[in-house]
Amino acid sequence: MRTGPSRVSVSPRTGIFSVSRPATRTIPMTGRTAEAVVSPRIAALSPVLLGPPPRDLGPTRPVRRLHLNEGPFPPAPAVITAMRAAAADLHRYPDNDGTDLVAALAARTGVAAERIVLGAGSNELLYGAADVAIEPGDVGLSPAPGFGSYARAVAMRGGRSVGVPVRDDGAVDVVATLAAVTPATRLVFVATPNNPTGGLISAADLDRLVAGLPNHLLLVVDEAYHEFARAAGGPDVIAALARRRGPWIVTRTFSKAYGLAGARIGWGIASSAEIADAFRKVRTTFSVSTVALAGARAALDETAHMERLVASTTAERERLAGALAPHGFRAMPSAANFVMLTTPSPADRLAAALRDENIFVVPMPWRETAGALRVTIGTPEDDDALIAALTAIATDR
Ligand SMILES: Cc1ncc(COP(=O)(O)O)c(C=O)c1O
Repeated sequence: MRTGPSRVSVSPRTGIFSVSRPATRTIPMTGRTAEAVVSPRIAALSPVLLGPPPRDLGPTRPVRRLHLNEGPFPPAPAVITAMRAAAADLHRYPDNDGTDLVAALAARTGVAAERIVLGAGSNELLYGAADVAIEPGDVGLSPAPGFGSYARAVAMRGGRSVGVPVRDDGAVDVVATLAAVTPATRLVFVATPNNPTGGLISAADLDRLVAGLPNHLLLVVDEAYHEFARAAGGPDVIAALARRRGPWIVTRTFSKAYGLAGARIGWGIASSAEIADAFRKVRTTFSVSTVALAGARAALDETAHMERLVASTTAERERLAGALAPHGFRAMPSAANFVMLTTPSPADRLAAALRDENIFVVPMPWRETAGALRVTIGTPEDDDALIAALTAIATDR
């Protein structure tokens, strides 16, 4: 809607200006409809359907948030204290470079600070990868099924996203990924472990990827679940990538093992300062808040808290898989804070039945099965509730 111009009049007696605003009226803007303004590639994107967060339904039916792969426990008390203290400075913009945090990450990893980048969640870096590497018409490869941001980021930049089916064990198929590369491929996303399937890329496959991938493209290795993967015996991704001559970035996050999903802070290690600079250029200025920087910096020193969360998650993951196996739920191998369970009856119906119990999981199709549920590992109480609900549903059938 547009309004007509304001009218300015000057009193001949006093010389005082007055401005009269006409009543708002619609001026027809021929052709200026939403369809004409929103670029076709944005219009073609599916909407983000997260909806309002589910809530407790009274004391007997607490919400069980097993659908977003969050950590089930709050951040360490020292982290909350640091974030509260940082709130006193919120009238100032944040340190855009995150100097203290980047220095701490450099010291922790042994990588030069100039190769470390920050983002509002690792998600910002995944979108940044498409900004850095994709021109309209270029191809981006990503695992299928895989984290939705990869395909979305490529499509938003006018690229063509091509999914490479994961292996039956849920790990990224490195051989198929290498076979899918063409001269038009400018960006390759892989994840270890992969979301939603949970599988790790083995050391041998990482070496195969590093040796076989041409240098004309950017390789993104998404390690959002790095801390869980290392606890599960996953390979040292940075050491393997150091042997790649072409550009790469590894993305990590404070959202999972550090329990800071709501703070929105992730980071990456790039192959060179030049690649890191490209990511810094495309990042939204000040996208990482002062409070997030303070929380992440404090969380890095709370190693015991992080390790407890990883240990509890690992033990609970195995317990959940064992308890549900006799009822026809098959757990795919997982090195993450979630597990994909193939189901004995249609997965979407099971997810709906769980929702009635205020338990939230993600149903999805999975090859020659009735489907699968991606289940985030929760607190022992969350997991007990899920086991009880699924067992009751399976026994009722
Ligand atoms: C594989 C993977 N990568 C990246 C992310 C994004 O995490 P964040 O933006 O919170 O760092 C997620 C979140 O679920 C994920 O599963």
